[in-house]
Amino acid sequence: MYPNHARAAHELLTFYMEAGVDMAMGEAPNDYLSPAAAKPPVVAEPPSPPAASKTGLKDWVSGGASSSALIATPAQAAPLSPDTAVMAAREAARGAASLDELRAILEGFNGCALKATATKLVFADGNPKARVMFVGEAPGYEEDRSGLPFVGRSGKLLDLMLKAVGLDRTNVYIANIVPWRPPGNRTPTPQEAAVCLPFMLRQIELCDPDVLVCLGGPSAQTLLSVKEGILKMRGRWFIFKNGSREIRAMPTLHPAYLLRSPIAKRLAWRDFQAIKKAIANPSGA
Ligand code: URA
Repeated sequence: MYPNHARAAHELLTFYMEAGVDMAMGEAPNDYLSPAAAKPPVVAEPPSPPAASKTGLKDWVSGGASSSALIATPAQAAPLSPDTAVMAAREAARGAASLDELRAILEGFNGCALKATATKLVFADGNPKARVMFVGEAPGYEEDRSGLPFVGRSGKLLDLMLKAVGLDRTNVYIANIVPWRPPGNRTPTPQEAAVCLPFMLRQIELCDPDVLVCLGGPSAQTLLSVKEGILKMRGRWFIFKNGSREIRAMPTLHPAYLLRSPIAKRLAWRDFQAIKKAIANPSGA
């Protein structure tokens, strides 16, 4: 039998695990509820409006004069206002003239708290010149370690599904709605998705695929502004409007769902056949 304090520690760790805590952030615990933590961060200047262009941009990313206020360290957990973070993301994303630039800007962006708990930025994999782009939900454990999307169990299944229709990572481009792993692999919150959305929209614009595939409900709901569940949406064509361009977009089942419900693979198979046809005939005529 455990002595009492060991039992209490064991119960606490069990509680943490069940709550999705899967890593230690530091040697000393942080009391997020203390009055000191509840104080708003010291922001030297109010944020510039989005139109502030290049000079404003540096304030939102590492190296800017007030950037420390945007770093969501555990000890300084008071969150940015959601609107401020989204404005910062829009301005930052707009400044990217290429995918490499976008990745560098994201590396320096501190407006999404997920960055503080993630190990690596998971930007994309595959061929940026591909005619089809797949967008998942968020990196998991393996992705967080490697910095590449869809390399864990779901990724291995995705590779098999791609192979079944003659595709692989040399002719598809793959990314996620949020590029940092949410702790415990939880679904990103709407706020986290909203902050990362300007980067994803710019990533799609710069990749400029003919066909967009949303893997799972959160990806479809975020990119296509639809509220229905994935089982209703999957297999249907939507129009994704990106700037002046309209792209054919299809939600399909997330490989993680298929691992849990293998019977649904036949639905995904149908979707992948339709996706293959659309790549061969992007105008849909
Ligand atoms: N699930 C996702 O949605 N994305 C990944 O990169 C891995 C698993």
